[in-house]
Amino acid sequence: MKETTKTDHRVATSGDIEVSTYLEIAKEIGGEHPAVAEKAVGGEEREAIVVIDFGSQYSLLIARRIRECQVYCELVPYDAPWEKVAPLKPRGFILSGGPAGAYEPGAPLAPAYIYESGLPVLGICYGMAIIAHQLGGKVSPGTKREYGHAVLHLSDIDSPLFDGLEDSLPVWMSHGDQIEEMPPGFRALAYTENSPFAVMGNDKGIFGLQFHPEVAHTPQGKTILRNFAYGICGCQGNWTIGNFIEESVSRIREQVGDGKVINALSGGVDSAVVATLIHRAIGDQLTCIYVNNGLLRREEVERTFNVFRLNMGMNIVYVDATERFLRRLEGVTEPETKRKVIGEEFIQVFEEEANKIGKVDFLAQGTLYPDVIESAASGSTASAKIKTHHNVGGLPAKMRLTLIEPLRYLFKDEVRQVGLGLGMPEEMVWRQPFPGPGLAIRIIGEVTKEKLEILRSADFIVMNEIKKAKLYRQLWQTFAVLTDVKSVGVMGDYRTYGYLVALRAVTSEDAMTADWARLPYDVLSRISNRIVNEVPGVNRVVYDITSKPPSTIEWE
Ligand code: XMP
Repeated sequence: MKETTKTDHRVATSGDIEVSTYLEIAKEIGGEHPAVAEKAVGGEEREAIVVIDFGSQYSLLIARRIRECQVYCELVPYDAPWEKVAPLKPRGFILSGGPAGAYEPGAPLAPAYIYESGLPVLGICYGMAIIAHQLGGKVSPGTKREYGHAVLHLSDIDSPLFDGLEDSLPVWMSHGDQIEEMPPGFRALAYTENSPFAVMGNDKGIFGLQFHPEVAHTPQGKTILRNFAYGICGCQGNWTIGNFIEESVSRIREQVGDGKVINALSGGVDSAVVATLIHRAIGDQLTCIYVNNGLLRREEVERTFNVFRLNMGMNIVYVDATERFLRRLEGVTEPETKRKVIGEEFIQVFEEEANKIGKVDFLAQGTLYPDVIESAASGSTASAKIKTHHNVGGLPAKMRLTLIEPLRYLFKDEVRQVGLGLGMPEEMVWRQPFPGPGLAIRIIGEVTKEKLEILRSADFIVMNEIKKAKLYRQLWQTFAVLTDVKSVGVMGDYRTYGYLVALRAVTSEDAMTADWARLPYDVLSRISNRIVNEVPGVNRVVYDITSKPPSTIEWE
């Protein structure tokens, strides 16, 4: 998969913290880890499933699926020592897939505590192979890679792993290794046409799956993971959004004391939820700084301002820095330089405003779990790196503020649930992502006031039509791009020579991969007609039909 080289100049930055393990990051910010306290809110016992990450591109998905079962789940690298893992209070381990071959010299091994703990273990793909390899079975490279759909036949339908399943089910395979001999004490629990040991298990609660239960192509995979978490590990399922909010509020109060917190509001979901959560905890000790960089969409400032200042009564410092940003962008055409210029200017404006507030102790950020994992994984040896992290900043280091990142263990969909749980307006919670550098990276070539106005008008029409067609929530992002191509057209009796606008609409789960949306022709047609009729200077609209990879979602 192609690596992207874009950077993200949101204020947020976990990317600039050098870390060797995910858990070390948790320690750096101190006291924020949701699973470290002895008891959850309400006195329930802590419980978690820990995924030992061997670098599979699906590792995060495993954590997500387990959390969908209301069980807290976290990833740790395969070489994390027990002292780092113990505070999570694991009830069981899942060994992820990974790119290595278990029989290769130097292949990453599961740490000894996995087997010594006596806790249940579920190995997936490489995870299964490494169990076989370490416990005395035999693994070989296999004669052919098995990739795609297969039918799993259960030979032991009484296994607790298969609770609630039919005798055969579709599963999704992606492996090269072959288990030739199971380790002593293991039995085959299910098979496929090509894999006689597609599922194995022993009577000590150690299981292996040759297929991937975490992907959507294994429709009953979640049942298997749920069976593992509940039936085999004995979890009760106390990871709920309500608990999360309650715990976060008390943790933030404790951490901040009577200190002051600042937050850069961007209007996006993550910074909005962070602001609301912290405001719930400490009220007026929080000040949000909202910088208008002149690269925002039409009506964006008013909307954000209304929600936070008028509806929620937050302290907001609003800065209109449009002229400063546009001056810095004069003559800049190269995408990375645009990002750099915008990021630097943002930091300057933000610092100036923060200094006016007086003594500030904390900086709140909307870092999410995938950002944390991506940053950490980029330093890990097991993972085949997929893309360079978007977040590079440097603000916290310069300003010597302590970070508060209450969402750093959440996935995007969980963040939205927290937003709803906090009573935020649906419109804000379900907003599509919008990049920090704003419309600047959707104008190919130099950014000018004239082009910004053209793009704002086109973007407004796109949003309006997509919302009218009730497609907004189904799409990850929908937007217009103002290209630097001009083409000839005819309007009335006149020849025109105007800009080409490209329309981009994608579906995605996490922006790592995306597909172009199959928008209905009539919606495309309405958008195109309205843009060429209502936006002066544009005489042609095209639809971008490339997926990511090989393209990226944004054009710059
Ligand atoms: P790409 O274009 O890399 O984008 O496929 C993936 C997701 O990230 C967003 N994006 C950014 N967000 N600052 C941001 O805050 C940036 O510099 C930036 N670049 C891309 C993009 O909108 C998409 O959701």
